[in-house]
Amino acid sequence: MKKFLIAITGASGAIHGIKLLESLRPVGNVETHLILSETAEWTIPYETEYSIKQVRELADHSYSNNHMWEAPASGSFYMDAMVICPCSMKTISAIRIGFADNLITRSADVFIKESRKLILCPRETPLSAIHLDNMSYLAHLGICILPPMTSLYTKPTSIDDIVNHHVMKIFDQLNIDYPNGKRWQS
Ligand SMILES: Cc1cc2nc3c(=O)[nH]c(=O)nc-3n(C[C@H](O)[C@H](O)[C@H](O)COP(=O)(O)O)c2cc1C
Repeated sequence: MKKFLIAITGASGAIHGIKLLESLRPVGNVETHLILSETAEWTIPYETEYSIKQVRELADHSYSNNHMWEAPASGSFYMDAMVICPCSMKTISAIRIGFADNLITRSADVFIKESRKLILCPRETPLSAIHLDNMSYLAHLGICILPPMTSLYTKPTSIDDIVNHHVMKIFDQLNIDYPNGKRWQS
């Protein structure tokens, strides 16, 4: 059984994290744990057709971001990978300096100290020198920086196509086969 921790923060693009949760549901031997930031609880109903309740129900376990006592806060609760999608610049900066004042940043702190797989999907534009420096620092620690960038070589015709491609890239990092993605073939 693989255990994945998915966090959705208040950067634009919550649909990527939601589609990730949806796509993991039919995968066998996978357990999903979800944390929504307070701002994500605002952006999700604003940007998507999903309610917070619907998103929480996509995961096997769901936590509040201010519940520091929940399982992911401890390194003794083993999980295989954590994905923060989308990841705000605020959360990136907190992770960079180990400022673990909520369950998302504490969990990321745990993943780094335990040398576990951490995938960040940062979203912001334009990117300042502060943003780039924080991401560069984290990339040098071995953290996967996987921004949701549009791939036009797949000839997307819908938002769903664009989002699917990003979810495929996350699945690749999780070493899981993704059936809905279009790959380049020469
Ligand atoms: C509509 C909306 C869109 C936002 N988009 C972004 C974004 O793309 N990237 C980003 O870093 N912050 C974005 N923000 C700002 C974050 O929500 C804000 O910095 C927040 O404190 C992040 O906290 P969190 O990481 O705990 O969710 C956005 C805010 C709103 C209201």
